[in-house]
Amino acid sequence: MTQSPRPSSAEIIRDGTWWQSAVGYQIYPLSFADSNGDGIGDIPGIISKLDYLADLGIGFIWLSPVYASPMVDNGYDISDYRAINPIFGTMADMDRLIAEARARQIGIVMDLVVNHTSDQHPWFQAALADPSSSFRDFYIWRDQHPPEGSPAAIRSTFGGSAWSRDAQSGEWFFHLFAPQQPDLNWTNPALRAEIYAMMNWWLDKGISGFRMDVIDLIGKQPEAGITADGPELHRYLQELHEATLTGRDALTVAEAWSASLTNAPLYSAPDRREVSMVFQFGHVTQFWDEQLGKWKPKPIDWPKLKATFATWQTALHDRGWNSLFWGNHDLPRAVSRYGDEGHFRVASAKALATVLHLMEGTPYIYQGEEFGMTNAGFTRIDQYRDVETLNFHRIQLTEGVDEEAFLAGARANSRDNARTPMQWSAEEHAGFTQGQPWIQVNDNYRWLNADKDRLDPDGVYQRYRRLIALRREYAVVRHGTFRLLLPDHPSLFVFERSKGPDRLLVVANMSGQPVILPACEIPQVEGIDILTGRAVSTGAGMELEPYAAFAIWL
Ligand code: GLC
Ligand code: CA
Repeated sequence: MTQSPRPSSAEIIRDGTWWQSAVGYQIYPLSFADSNGDGIGDIPGIISKLDYLADLGIGFIWLSPVYASPMVDNGYDISDYRAINPIFGTMADMDRLIAEARARQIGIVMDLVVNHTSDQHPWFQAALADPSSSFRDFYIWRDQHPPEGSPAAIRSTFGGSAWSRDAQSGEWFFHLFAPQQPDLNWTNPALRAEIYAMMNWWLDKGISGFRMDVIDLIGKQPEAGITADGPELHRYLQELHEATLTGRDALTVAEAWSASLTNAPLYSAPDRREVSMVFQFGHVTQFWDEQLGKWKPKPIDWPKLKATFATWQTALHDRGWNSLFWGNHDLPRAVSRYGDEGHFRVASAKALATVLHLMEGTPYIYQGEEFGMTNAGFTRIDQYRDVETLNFHRIQLTEGVDEEAFLAGARANSRDNARTPMQWSAEEHAGFTQGQPWIQVNDNYRWLNADKDRLDPDGVYQRYRRLIALRREYAVVRHGTFRLLLPDHPSLFVFERSKGPDRLLVVANMSGQPVILPACEIPQVEGIDILTGRAVSTGAGMELEPYAAFAIWL
């Protein structure tokens, strides 16, 4: 057995771009921090928590939409791209957020929602008011509803047909989400020019980039039945890059549910000049039901999950860039979905953080994940607020799905699981608001909150803090190659990262049972766990506690 040496200590980061050493943190403004007691999170609330985020060590905030919006889809329905929704504050608050964040070396990455607007956007209003107006062609129209079974008879993601009738003109407009979210017509160059001008306006304000909402849909050709990954998608992204990002040091992340191993490098290969990275969902959708999708999740199968990560790690190494995430505002809480929130909440949240943050890519933390927040635990439909959940409840019940079965699916996978208020403290309403929260706070806030977890040196927060620091400290964490060990082991997640002479071994037990390390199949080493500073060994007969995780130099 060898004693593990330590590679050369803290290097100045010279490799890659700023976002390759930074960790992102997603804020869902409605539920983050309320400053004025109306029960709704807001921008001054975010500003008041910047010191907390700086202490955690994040490099940028991905801010879910704060633009003017009727809030049918919680801000993903924008009625004015250059105005702030008054429930969140003012443009002056926004400017202050950008400046205060920058003073703490934190960038602001805005959500760019340009697949569709709100039906209240002046463009759509003008299109409705006058079918001969030039704004009519900013949207997608049809004389008649397409016949069932024809290619254009597309279904909306939120249920029902993707075509709705404009009563005044009798024509039908296209919407891949709610009818209040009409899709923009990207084939129209005048529309594209408007979007680029708007993006430049925000970039000139000093933001650090964009997270591009369902951007893989902009090349759609509804008449041909094509929604995601259309033939013009990459041409538009290159044009967008040229018009807005050239000469700027911005981060862009494309949300692309259709991203595959084949097309992902098209987005993020450095020479293609499109985006910095994609959010791909292979590790998410592989555990959805073939028919009922997210509403009937399958149990996590670790060998399959590990294989997905390993393939992406290898596929994009040197050919693109990965984004790394367990959760976001559309997905269940990481610890509830992939860990064990009941018996091993803290240990499993730390193990999940460890394996994710020691891979190659830019990790994203969803608010509350850094101290192990859990799913909402709602048991009644009236507790839900999410348009998608409420629509599918109606649809599936009409189609004969039983109420309890639907609620079980929603309890596992509804988007509201991640949208309950941040649990800052054990105070009333979890310290999120002085008023009545817009959505129920999870009852577990009395013992599960940021204040409490942060004080625990072995808590979840301190693990995240350490992992974020390690990414900045070691080139091998940022850019090392990835090799999966024990691919078929049902619960051990073991991989090696290497760069030059530096080799890091990451070992995690992703189960609630103790596991004996299969000595002959992994390198034999004893040394110091770089996460905790404690002595560890991979020697014969070593037993790993449930959800134990460590990282050691080879
Ligand atoms: C993205 C967003 C989601 C939203 C949808 C429509 O998937 O993450 O919250 O509902 O796009 O904008
Ligand atoms: Ca408020």
